[in-house]
Order: sequence, then structure tokens, then C-alpha cells
Amino acid sequence: MYINFWYPAIASKDLSADQPARVQMLGQQFVLFRDANGQACCLSDTCVHRGGALGKGKMRDGNVACPYHGWQFDGSGRCVQIPSMGRDAKVPARAKVDAYPVKEKYGIIFAFLGDLPEAERPPLMECPEYGAEGWRANLIIFDVACSYERSIENGMDPAHNEFVHPSHGYHGEREDYIVPEIELEQQDWGCGFVQTFKSHDRVGKDSPTRSKMRTDKDGKFQGEVEAGTWHHGPAAMLTKIHMATHNWMHQYMYECPIDDRNIRVFLVNMRNCVLEPTADKQVEDRCKVIAGQDIEIVEALQPTKTPPSAIREVIVTADSVIVGYRRWLQKWATLGWRIDTRKVRQMQQEGDAVLAIPSPARRTEKNWALDTVPLVSVASVTDSAAA
Ligand code: FES
Ligand SMILES: [Fe+2]
Repeated sequence: MYINFWYPAIASKDLSADQPARVQMLGQQFVLFRDANGQACCLSDTCVHRGGALGKGKMRDGNVACPYHGWQFDGSGRCVQIPSMGRDAKVPARAKVDAYPVKEKYGIIFAFLGDLPEAERPPLMECPEYGAEGWRANLIIFDVACSYERSIENGMDPAHNEFVHPSHGYHGEREDYIVPEIELEQQDWGCGFVQTFKSHDRVGKDSPTRSKMRTDKDGKFQGEVEAGTWHHGPAAMLTKIHMATHNWMHQYMYECPIDDRNIRVFLVNMRNCVLEPTADKQVEDRCKVIAGQDIEIVEALQPTKTPPSAIREVIVTADSVIVGYRRWLQKWATLGWRIDTRKVRQMQQEGDAVLAIPSPARRTEKNWALDTVPLVSVASVTDSAAA
């Protein structure tokens, strides 16, 4: 898992003004709450007094109060009151927790989990169709017991549709089936590709978006579908599916690695057809059916995470996108952004590790009670790449 990216923490509608929420991301606990202005805030969850879980606390005048002894923390992570010392007592400078930049967009609260200053941060994957005329959004949230790497690789994989999704292809039965050569397109924070493929499908049976597909006299869709997919950072990706001029689906998948073996997916599904709000439920159900087909595969992959070396796999041309994605992961590892999950697990098993993801304030302030998560050393990444 990687620090220094934006991750989806919670749906806006699930964070009320009067109750904090406890959320696990990148293997660590966080508290999310709304300050007195309604602005969403995200802090490391561990109270630096004696380890209370802030996310189980209460809201007090826009600050979160620890459930153990009531210490209050504001949105910047500073402790502003220690009840046991009396109202006007001076709070020690070390009574602070990490606070993370937050953006609330597309019905989601995102947190920037890392210590980069604002000017150097990778941007959030934008969704320009959201709120634009002629588009309608569905936010669909679901958990999957697989690593974000396996999930993104599956979402980008041009060869799985034919076999995993009965509605997308011909189950490999077409004699001329082949994955055409892919031209990888590099962007600022990831890579992707566009391709066209043949697809058939039943029409109007269980999907409102199918009713406008081009069909033959038997009601089978015979057209070519244009689809493109790009990842953005380690755990976000976009898929565009163009079935006809007015039948587009743009799916923005913001994935939160709960830990290195579990994800929570925040899917912002944009469509430019069947815009009636009453169709939302049907669109959501359809998306869940397709996602369910993927989930059945990815939850059973061995090993759970992608192997550290492709020596344990047999990679072919159709996997070039997967290789492209892994190159980007390697690049972020060489920047020193990869969390050393093995070391974290070891420390946690020994029972004495209370860790935090480093926040931007760590670059300018000292005097922190908690250690930060260990990161994979750049030297070891460079060595393994050379091997
Ligand atoms: S542990 Fe949080 S106030 Fe004591
Ligand atoms: Fe899929």
C-alpha cells in the first residue's frame, strides 16, 4: 500500500454532524468528523493520552472528544482541552494527532494519506461528468476481500471480460477471438488503453441501459463496443464504455485499501442515458451483478496479493496493461511511498506498535507521540528492480 495519494474514506451521507466515524484505511485507524462549520476532518484515530479510539468518541462544539477521558481534538489534530486539568489549563504541545487534508466531492469524503506538501500531491481522480447536464450519477459502495492491486488489475484486464462476464462476450467460443494488441497510453499518474470489442447481449430484460443498444431482429446486440480504462494512482481507475452515441457509461472506481487484503470500493457510476432517477436502482443492481462476477474471481485469486515477482506467473501479451500498472507501482515505491506491510504486521503482532500514517505537519513540526508506519526503503526497491 502507498502513502501520498487521495483515498475515499466514507460517503458524505454517512458522516453526520453529531457523530464521529471510525474508518480503517491502509491498515490504520482514522476518525472522521464534521467541525462546527460542517467541514469534514480526518485524524489519526489513536488518542495520544492513553490510546483511546477517537472514532468511538463524541462531538463537542465541532471537536472530537475521546471516549476515555474526554480530551478534545480539533480538525487540525490539536488537543484543545484536557478536562482532568481544568477548563483553562495549558495543553501540552505534544498533545496532538496527525490530521490529513480532506476533500468532499462526488458524494464521497476523500483523505490525503501522506505527508507531501500541497503543491507536490498527486491530484484526486476528477469526475468531470458529475453534476454536468445530461449525466446522472449513482454512488455504489461495496467491500471485497481482495487486495487493491488484484482489483485494479482485474478492472484493467482486457482478457477477462470474455470469460468472466457472460453479457460482455462469447465465453471464448468465437473462433476469431483474440485480444488485439494494446497501445498503452501513459498519463500523469497511471496508464490505460482504449479498444473496441464485439459484444452481444439480451435487450431490455434486466437493464435500463440496454434498451437503446443496436440490436438485430432477434434482439441480440451485435455492435462493437468501444471501451477504455485507465488507472490513476495505485487504487483508483476509470472505465468508459461507449455502446452507442447516447449510451455511455463512465465508471469511476475509487478504492480504499482497508488493509493489503481488503478493499472498500466507492463506484461513481455516470451514465448519459436513462436519466430518470427511478432508473437508479436498476442501474445499481446491474452494476452489482457485473461486480459480483468479478468479485467471485478476485476473492479466490492466489496469492491474495500480486506476487512480488512475475517469476511466479506466466505473463503473455494480453497482460501488457497489468505490466504497465505494476511499473507505476514500482515507480511510487522508488519514491519511498510504499508501506512495509510485512514490518507493520510484525510490529503489530508483537503488540507494541501504535502507528500513524505521516501527515503533512510531520514535515514542519516535531514532537509527535506516535511513530509513523515503516516504509519500504528506496534502496531495497531499486535492488529488487535490478535483480
Ligand atoms: S485516552 Fe483519550 S483521553 Fe485518555
Ligand atoms: Fe470485470
